[in-house]
Amino acid sequence: MRNRLLRAIADAGDMDALEVIRVSAVGRRGEVSLRMRELGRMTPDERRLAGPALNALKDEINRALSERQDQLAAVALEDRLRGEWLDVTMPGRARRSGSIHPVSQVTEEAIVIFSDLGFAVAEGPQIETDWHNFDALNMPPEHPARQEHDTFYMHREPVNAENAADASTDDGRPPHVLRTHTSPVQIRHMQAHGAPCRVIAPGRVYRADYDQTHTPMFHQIEGLCIDRDISMAHLKWTLEEFCRSFFEVDGVELRFRASHFPFTEPSAEVDIRCSWAGGRLQIGTGDDWLEILGCGMVHPGVLTAGGVDPDCWQGFAFGLGIDRLAMLKYGIPDLRAFFECQLPWLRHYGFRPLDVPSLSGGLSRPHR
Ligand code: PHE
Repeated sequence: MRNRLLRAIADAGDMDALEVIRVSAVGRRGEVSLRMRELGRMTPDERRLAGPALNALKDEINRALSERQDQLAAVALEDRLRGEWLDVTMPGRARRSGSIHPVSQVTEEAIVIFSDLGFAVAEGPQIETDWHNFDALNMPPEHPARQEHDTFYMHREPVNAENAADASTDDGRPPHVLRTHTSPVQIRHMQAHGAPCRVIAPGRVYRADYDQTHTPMFHQIEGLCIDRDISMAHLKWTLEEFCRSFFEVDGVELRFRASHFPFTEPSAEVDIRCSWAGGRLQIGTGDDWLEILGCGMVHPGVLTAGGVDPDCWQGFAFGLGIDRLAMLKYGIPDLRAFFECQLPWLRHYGFRPLDVPSLSGGLSRPHR
């Protein structure tokens, strides 16, 4: 019995198993305890031999139990220490705050400049109806300009079986696209507020295009200025004034190129003189031109679609690429990196969160 009990104690794998053995050996109804109860029925001689032997056995079992308990506790502690191990000699991580993305910074800067020129901020949905994105802007379904836009069309839910009996393939909802430009905000703003108006509409736009200066999602600022006698001269002055304030560099050279948009007549595209020498993008020098905006006088058909009478009102519109402006102003050569969320890039090109751009306090901020 002694050997059996000692071996069981030594083999106990955890505290629970050990407790079961303790109860079965030296508990009130345990094996050893029951044997000790038999002492009363023995002869004095037998008792003189068996008594001390049983007491010694009980002591030995108890000692073995407590030794095994200590061992198990030590093993448990060892496990825990291994699990909670921490290398306090590792280098610490410096406390950092987040930074403002160049696109957000440039949007803020542009809003500040245009606010000063009397433009309010308007908004429209990124998931736009086909009609607002194209038709209302003088691009009927068969218009070739639709192809140039590399449009993302929204998936249309299949007509469900019950309604299929109506033999209609049209579910009654207008087709939707991810807006390919911010120009549909012109329509929405005119419909809601009429003329005269002077607004900009910054926001995201989408086209299936991807290279060093194109990403499938990018940002534009739409401008719309309608009044009784707004002319191309106002447009040109406004854009030159904007670029002067925005780039804060002497000798920013703009090039107005005759162009075509279905929703403006006449139309122009504006390029900025720049240089890509050594993979670095710089403005004010060089022999290259980077297109930053499209503009023109709002087409009478567009005014009509917006509910504005073209016999009483006229004006200009422009759409400029925020991401391109950010690349030029801050010398960032690849547009794709803007949206790859690489921390080193964000740290390098990001801006300090609390430096809000203002005309009086300065527009651009040093990189953090
Ligand atoms: N919507 C045009 C584009 O994305 C830009 C534009 C806006 C041109 C307003 C003229 C007037 O290319």
